[in-house]
Amino acid sequence: PLLAMEQEDAIRQELGSLHGIPLFKSFIEGWPQVKAFQARPDDLLISTYPKSGTTWLSEIMDMIYHNGNVEKCRRDAIYNRVPFLEMKVSKGPSGVEQLEKTPSPRLVKTHLPVQLLPTSFWEKDCKIIYMARNPKDVVISYYFFHQMAKIHPDPGTKAEFLENFMAGKVAYGSWYDHVRGWWEEKQEKKILYLFYEDMKKDPRWEVQKILQFLGKELAEETVERILHYTSFQEMKKNPAANYETMLPTLMDHSLSPFLRKGISGDWKNHFTVAQNEHFNQHYQEHMAGSDLHFQME
Ligand code: PPS
Repeated sequence: PLLAMEQEDAIRQELGSLHGIPLFKSFIEGWPQVKAFQARPDDLLISTYPKSGTTWLSEIMDMIYHNGNVEKCRRDAIYNRVPFLEMKVSKGPSGVEQLEKTPSPRLVKTHLPVQLLPTSFWEKDCKIIYMARNPKDVVISYYFFHQMAKIHPDPGTKAEFLENFMAGKVAYGSWYDHVRGWWEEKQEKKILYLFYEDMKKDPRWEVQKILQFLGKELAEETVERILHYTSFQEMKKNPAANYETMLPTLMDHSLSPFLRKGISGDWKNHFTVAQNEHFNQHYQEHMAGSDLHFQME
């Protein structure tokens, strides 16, 4: 465990800019190592815009990789089982350093927009699973996450945060550019593009899609066990999945738990009618011409 003071540089700082994408300054410092990252052909990349179901998909993938063995999937916290590629804070190993020590086959987490993905992943032709979530739920989840995860700047009011999100002035930039960028890349590459809303509605079907993508078969009861242990309720009480082992100076679960609500359509409890109308208009403008569609609940 690190002393709180050692982490002070990572707390409530304003964002820097990485090739035009707003990002934590400590991550930008580590960028040369990320850019030069050497992927292995059997790496599997889990890519998402923040708050889109990364941890959920990561837990599902680790369970699949361990044939539904619950004990093995409690061997460590999810952020160590599935290292976060571009993560870097001043003390402690960076995502790249963690990954270098991880035996194959590795699961790798990233939030990078497609144009910033280290080229090695393309060169090695790695499999990639992208998960997208509707932006109204993402912005609400991101707002509460800003309150509890102190690496982010102070989010301000909900209304202020909504404006910043729509303008792409949050870590990882524009949600629109992110989901559309990865969607367009999917046409040519080995990318399985999933949606949080589909996973909520029919997780069994989505897990089957993943298994097919991996070329893997699992017994029916193994799939059942995976679905059970990756449900919101189970993950919420699992210390290896719920981020409770993170330093309290970095994440304060008393402000808002990491596994907060885990539903589709929670935005309805937070958007005013006017905000919703404004958001819908902005959404239509920014999704124009795309065949990518979202279920808002
Ligand atoms: S992060 O920090 O970007 O990696 O966050 P991420 O894991 O992408 O997103 C967190 C949101 O996912 C919800 N979550 C789940 N929903 C349903 N089922 C399961 N098992 C599950 N696990 C995590 C989590 O609650 C966050 O969403 P909100 O809407 O805030 O509850």
